[in-house]
Amino acid sequence: MTLWGGRFTAAMDETLWNLSESYSFDHVLYAHDIEGSMAHVRGLEAAGLLTSAECATLLDTLSSIKGEFLAGTFERHASDEDIHMAIERRATELAGNIGAKIHTARSRNDQVATTLRLFTRDALSEIARQALALVDTLVQVGQRNPQAYLPGYTHLQRAQPVLLSHHLHAHAWSLTRDVDRVLDARTRMNVSPLGAGALAGTSLPIDPSVTSELLGFDEPFANSMDAVSDRDFVAEALFDIALLGVHLSRMGEELVLWTTSEFNFATLGDDFTTGSSMLPQKKNSDVAELARGKSGRLVGNLTGLLVTLKGLPLTYNRDLQEDKEPLFDSVKQVTLVLAAMNGAYQSMIFNAAAAAAAADDQLLVAIDVAERLVAEGLPFRQAHEVAGGLVGRAVREGRLLADIVADEPTLAHHRDLFERGAALSNRRSPGSSGPAAAPGQSTRLSERIAALRARI
Ligand code: ARG
Repeated sequence: MTLWGGRFTAAMDETLWNLSESYSFDHVLYAHDIEGSMAHVRGLEAAGLLTSAECATLLDTLSSIKGEFLAGTFERHASDEDIHMAIERRATELAGNIGAKIHTARSRNDQVATTLRLFTRDALSEIARQALALVDTLVQVGQRNPQAYLPGYTHLQRAQPVLLSHHLHAHAWSLTRDVDRVLDARTRMNVSPLGAGALAGTSLPIDPSVTSELLGFDEPFANSMDAVSDRDFVAEALFDIALLGVHLSRMGEELVLWTTSEFNFATLGDDFTTGSSMLPQKKNSDVAELARGKSGRLVGNLTGLLVTLKGLPLTYNRDLQEDKEPLFDSVKQVTLVLAAMNGAYQSMIFNAAAAAAAADDQLLVAIDVAERLVAEGLPFRQAHEVAGGLVGRAVREGRLLADIVADEPTLAHHRDLFERGAALSNRRSPGSSGPAAAPGQSTRLSERIAALRARI
């Protein structure tokens, strides 16, 4: 018998039960549900709806139920529809009539909204922590290879040389924005729905601000109907995770390229690569491919929830139960990817010689020739034309751009532009890819990381 069986004369059909039960996936909420219930019980005591002795009994009961979950001894009964019912049923078994008071002035509608906010708040904090750990690793890989440089690409065509640290910091900056977003979402969602009841509050004298404060929310809900029907916080969490996943996917794609024989810019450790069941020579960057692959599902989870929410009338509708699996899945998958990508970058050996050889492609100096001419007073569009003409000749005649410049009496004094590494070190504008601009950028990035870490 379910806990709401009073008005029913027939048991639920098995097919409906299978459709309806959510314990099979929402049991992961047990700790947050118990946390919410403990605050609720104390709120009932503050309202005079429980005696202090009853409150103490219920708190003890709830903590021993938590102990059962932790020890793996909690037994689900066949009639436990979801985690909330399972815990209430067990509390009543353990504490008899006092347990039967636990759901006073509460509905599963405000209960589940509270529990899910508590879960999401913790999950977002953990994701922020892990994303910053990955940022740290990217910074360290740059520091381990301070001189290393590679071609920067546009259209996946070689464009200009960039320091490896500069390149990795580009990813780090996008991850810091992800962390910023996750922390913003966490602030916005930090409103307690507990006390909203089924949808309209209660005639019993509870004060939602008591439980709000106990649970570390910034404030209680203002509108009971909004409190039980709002799942914006889940949608926001799923968006933030999806975008983080998209960033991880782009990083994954890059690692796949870098570790090909064709690029050969990097190798991953044996502990972060996989072999082939047939081809003995294979060393595959599956970690990076999975980082790329998981993003599809993260975007799917967001899309699925938005579609679920789209047509819902106020207030709680059972459709809302569909918020959980996408949320749990996205949290779990992005956590797996963050941890594995962190390890993969830590294991990465950057092949500085191969990357430098690609970046030393003389055609990448063409812009520096043009900019020299600009420095000598030529309008940029004409300088571009001159440099483009030189590149055209180099390509057609199969000669080095440096030789063509050296042979040209009016340009020969610009030969120094072709010295090894010159194209990189000439890049000095603030925020640019050369060594002169690097320290300022590192400072800005470390300041951002420290500020974000302080907010977690
Ligand atoms: N398992 C349900 C959910 O996740 C709990 C709320 C059920 N409320 C109700 N009125 N049936 O949404």
